[in-house]
Amino acid sequence: MKKVLILDFGGQYNLLIARRVRECGVYCEIKSFRITMEEVRAYGPDALIFTGGYASVFAAGAPMVDMALYEMGIPVLGICYGMQMMMQQLGGVCRRSVTREYGKTELTQTGGSPLFRGVPEKAIYWMSHGIEVEQTAPGFRTIASSAGCRHAAVEDPAHKLYCVQFHPEVVHTQYGRQILENFLYGVCGFDREWAMSSYVDEAVAECRARIGSGRVLLGLSGGVDSSVAAALLQRAVGDQLTCIFVDHGLLRKNEGDDVERVMREQLHVDIRRVNAQERFLGKLAGVTEPEAKRKIIGEEFIRVFEAEAKKIGKVEFLAQGTIYPDVVESGLGGESVVIKSHHNVGGLPEHVDFDDIIEPLRRLFKDEVRQLGMELGLPESLVWRQPFPGPGLGVRIIGEITREKLEILREADAIFREEMDRAGLGRSASQYFAALTNMRSVGVMGDERTYDYAVALRAVETQDFMTATWCRLPWELLDKVSGRIVGEVRHVNRVLYDVTSKPPATVEFE
Ligand code: XMP
Repeated sequence: MKKVLILDFGGQYNLLIARRVRECGVYCEIKSFRITMEEVRAYGPDALIFTGGYASVFAAGAPMVDMALYEMGIPVLGICYGMQMMMQQLGGVCRRSVTREYGKTELTQTGGSPLFRGVPEKAIYWMSHGIEVEQTAPGFRTIASSAGCRHAAVEDPAHKLYCVQFHPEVVHTQYGRQILENFLYGVCGFDREWAMSSYVDEAVAECRARIGSGRVLLGLSGGVDSSVAAALLQRAVGDQLTCIFVDHGLLRKNEGDDVERVMREQLHVDIRRVNAQERFLGKLAGVTEPEAKRKIIGEEFIRVFEAEAKKIGKVEFLAQGTIYPDVVESGLGGESVVIKSHHNVGGLPEHVDFDDIIEPLRRLFKDEVRQLGMELGLPESLVWRQPFPGPGLGVRIIGEITREKLEILREADAIFREEMDRAGLGRSASQYFAALTNMRSVGVMGDERTYDYAVALRAVETQDFMTATWCRLPWELLDKVSGRIVGEVRHVNRVLYDVTSKPPATVEFE
């Protein structure tokens, strides 16, 4: 299988480049630009992409690649900083831009380059740079320019070297996808080879080889990642896999039963469900501070998991549903800084006896995990499940968590999700849910005065959950949901819609 090596210079869209390449059906991985030539040769890439980055090519010690990379004879695409670096290294000249370009910019392409095949002469591209190429390196010709940037794209077709100042990977670049396809299929000559249908066998074989006759323990949360990991491991090693499903009582409506049923009946997974609702609610009684709540839930989770694991005894492998963005964001893939550590509930259990960790999804993006789930026969309702945080409804109930509040929230949230699905919007928003505010207010129902809770609805769109914008849901839908919630859920007399983006708000309420 052909593979692209993406060398990461720390730019903000780097993970997106990898996603786009994979969407084109070409396998790729991100590594830091600090990789050595020996490591590159050992990896054996068929093409290279140099990403954008935060550094200036003029800075002392600016990140540069080994010149031997250009001698490998494989196609290279340099994006933004990657372009400037290539030009500097190959004998061109960069300068500070006279006009900094940021955002949507019109570019004119001169025609004749395979990179722009099928792309109109003028189109909108996403630019973000304060440095530009003043003089191209020998052998290169300019293939696109904008009002403020004469060399917005250049090529040396004889050596298959291509550079673009804009970002083809972001959606704001009108023909970005086409340009990436042109590079991958046209310039590199790759085919669509990377697909989950063919990856299943490879992944199963890999897990089998690694696990041998060992035993595997997996913590199942009911979320997409751990469910797909369970399905894959079950396919690979059957009953050598045991899953522990800690039901902390903070799950959505019917969630615990659904997960248990699918895993046990459909996939024949050896699943041990621990009903620990009482224990969690007991510990959480009277606690209102968000971080304290999170901490209790995280710690209890580990304790319950450990106690159950002890009953199983020694296992060779502890499996985790880590996916590729987690790997990259924790700084192991490329140059990106650690951003996500708080998102793994409680970390690793200390008192579980295992030799090694197995992460069967660590090379996959979320959409690939979903496709893999479908290939493995998981039901759509599980594969397309809304992202759900480890602490569950615990961070969607403001203030103290009580049984009554959980009941109210479960019902309201189920109605919202049901109506989103009915309206055909279920997959259009990245995440949506109901939260229970700690506010009570006055209302009137029939002839009676009420004094009840306000439910907040939230729906956001996001690429990476680091930033998010609130969804402009249709008024009719909000009206329907609001009507049903106050009509069907006791002790709710008001429904609010959250129109705050992230930042300044977060996606979850606590
Ligand atoms: P925030 O609230 O940080 O949420 O803007 C961003 C995304 O992360 C999810 N999230 C969590 N997921 N454990 C998880 O597994 C957590 O503690 C946690 N906190 C937030 C949230 O649902 C959203 O998708």
